[in-house]
Amino acid sequence: MTDTGSDITRLKRADHKEPLLVVEDLRTHFEVEAGMVKAVDGVSLSLDRGKTLGVVGESGSGKTVLARSIMRLNIADNVKTSGSVHYDGEELIGKSSKEMQKLWGVEMAMVFQDPMTSLNPVVKVGRQLTEHLRYHLGVSKSESRETAIELLRSVQIPEPESRIDNYPHEMSGGMRQRACIAIALACGPKMLFADEPTTALDVTVQHQILNLLAQQQTDRFMTMIMVTHDLGVVAGRTDEIVVMYAGKVVEKAPTNQLFADMRHPYTQALLWSIPKVSQPKHTRLSAIAGRPPDLINPPSGCSFSPRCPYAQDRCHEEDPPLTAAGAAGHQYACWYPVGSPENEAAYQSNLANGVPQTLAAAGRLAATEELVTEGAAG
Ligand SMILES: Nc1ncnc2c1ncn2[C@@H]1O[C@H](COP(=O)(O)OP(=O)(O)O)[C@@H](O)[C@H]1O
Ligand code: SF4
Ligand SMILES: [Mg+2]
Repeated sequence: MTDTGSDITRLKRADHKEPLLVVEDLRTHFEVEAGMVKAVDGVSLSLDRGKTLGVVGESGSGKTVLARSIMRLNIADNVKTSGSVHYDGEELIGKSSKEMQKLWGVEMAMVFQDPMTSLNPVVKVGRQLTEHLRYHLGVSKSESRETAIELLRSVQIPEPESRIDNYPHEMSGGMRQRACIAIALACGPKMLFADEPTTALDVTVQHQILNLLAQQQTDRFMTMIMVTHDLGVVAGRTDEIVVMYAGKVVEKAPTNQLFADMRHPYTQALLWSIPKVSQPKHTRLSAIAGRPPDLINPPSGCSFSPRCPYAQDRCHEEDPPLTAAGAAGHQYACWYPVGSPENEAAYQSNLANGVPQTLAAAGRLAATEELVTEGAAG
């Protein structure tokens, strides 16, 4: 895209005031032999144009199914989807794959976790890019090659004139992910989903790819959903965050607000599991105690209750609804939210009763308090 072209696109896209995406009570359940897997179970969110939303949660929390459900990629006989996905004035739930095909690539595109699974190993990268351009935009063969070279250049692949003739295995992991990003960006989508785009890459390359995505998002005024298990990845790179647990949103807030005043114990546990720069190498990360819940037979009440250091009787009986916190746009689903006197009382009572996950969390809490005190003193 030329500078002038991208300026015009940016202005046109910024002109609309209503959100690009509004998801309401979205449910995606898979019928399997053992029962119904409630992978996404009543998710609502909205996303303004040009903004980036982080979707965070452990493996199995329903992030990929959510992203694929919004894009309507989850269509098989055993999939039951309900709710609403309103995209740029159109309802997507109920659209056929044929109708969706007109939107894929051009309106919305996805970058997947593992570039090797989204690239065809026996086709040159350039051809994968030009076929995409010719199919969606109907450009000529020679024009599509030129555009493909420009796209590879824009995702900072060196010597794109020769790299275009590489097979995927002739590229490094980081370079392959850049090529996947080029393919996703090829038709100038308004909305980009990045599903754990850096998980398969080493740390230095991770940063480069995240910076590249952020740059492209700004240049093209794209709206972006960044899916990750790592709260650290979305910390400085998103406008808003939703935290998912067992197919549900348990907390959502503008990013700064979430880090300043997180209320959900699961969000707090995710924060504890971020690797710290000051940690010695090979320090074992504080994995969250216990296992993610069975999505066919989730625990009664709050689905985090078997793992939560603050769980009380009520938590095992009643599922907490999403509740507005003080600040605009901040919601959480918890009976004993972090930072409240009720939370402190629940913690002390569990500690006194020797509840295992509370004892496990005690060291973490003390370390966090120490850091806060040191910060305040320094
Ligand atoms: N096609 C499917 N059939 C049955 N269960 C599925 C299917 N796809 C995903 N799941 C289940 O849905 C849950 C959420 O999966 P996923 O969205 O991939 O998690 P995440 O991306 O957060 O790691 C998991 O328990 C997974 O096993
Ligand atoms: S305190 Fe209770 S309601 Fe809140 S997350 Fe823990 S178990 Fe769930
Ligand atoms: Mg996933």
